[in-house]
Amino acid sequence: MSKQLILALSKGRILDETLPLLADAGITPLEDLGKSRKLLFDTNLPDVKLVVIRATDVPTYVQLGAADLGLAGKDVLLEHGAEGLYEPLDLEIARCKLMTAGIVGAAPARARRRVATKFVNIARRYYAEQGIQAEVIKLYGAMELAPLMNLADEIVDIVDTGNTLRANGMEPRELIASISTRLVANKAAMTMKHERIKPLIARLGEAVAARR
Ligand code: ADP
Ligand code: PRP
Ligand code: MG
Repeated sequence: MSKQLILALSKGRILDETLPLLADAGITPLEDLGKSRKLLFDTNLPDVKLVVIRATDVPTYVQLGAADLGLAGKDVLLEHGAEGLYEPLDLEIARCKLMTAGIVGAAPARARRRVATKFVNIARRYYAEQGIQAEVIKLYGAMELAPLMNLADEIVDIVDTGNTLRANGMEPRELIASISTRLVANKAAMTMKHERIKPLIARLGEAVAARR
């Protein structure tokens, strides 16, 4: 195993909050991540490189050891499963809630509730735990549209301000999990590269604590 550390970052909204946090922890990419079409970046630390990938791919990269560390939303981690991963730190950014939601004042759902979501594993687990029969319908986005189009009775999705739900005549119902971005580490790397990873986790932890 090389002594180099690869840190996988989630593209999209997490990235905007990640870069200032990494900077606080003393890690800065040598190029502007937003402007470049590159996916692999050097940093000011000679042995730390960044890869910028889809949020849902981060657990895969870290689990399989292609990246040593990664930053991913707890929603993504819950959906993907945590085998082969440690979760040493809550970065306390991109906070939101994973909730069920439905149309305001909707009639009670049919006996077998139709649930549209991109979080099919989380949804199946949640409704099973509640003892509710559910038919889970996989979507890739715009979940809030599904009940309006009578594709589903309910959705499982991320809620932050609630604006997207309100704008579509929907309301939040049950909280499934409180979400924030987590640092994950490959289990083997955590042992083999402990000397390098430990100080990095400590610096990130200090940067998080300093913001509280
Ligand atoms: P995607 O394209 O997969 O939806 P996003 O960049 O929108 O990716 O979201 C990445 C992560 O940011 C999610 O996994 C979640 O943890 C968090 N997140 C998503 N939506 C919101 C939101 N509205 N407010 C705060 N955090 C969010
Ligand atoms: C996310 C999420 C909700 C919305 C919630 O969507 O899927 O639709 O944010 O935030 P709010 O409660 O503040 O309105 P996003 O903007 O990431 O769109 P996408 O993932 O469907 O591209
Ligand atoms: Mg999104």
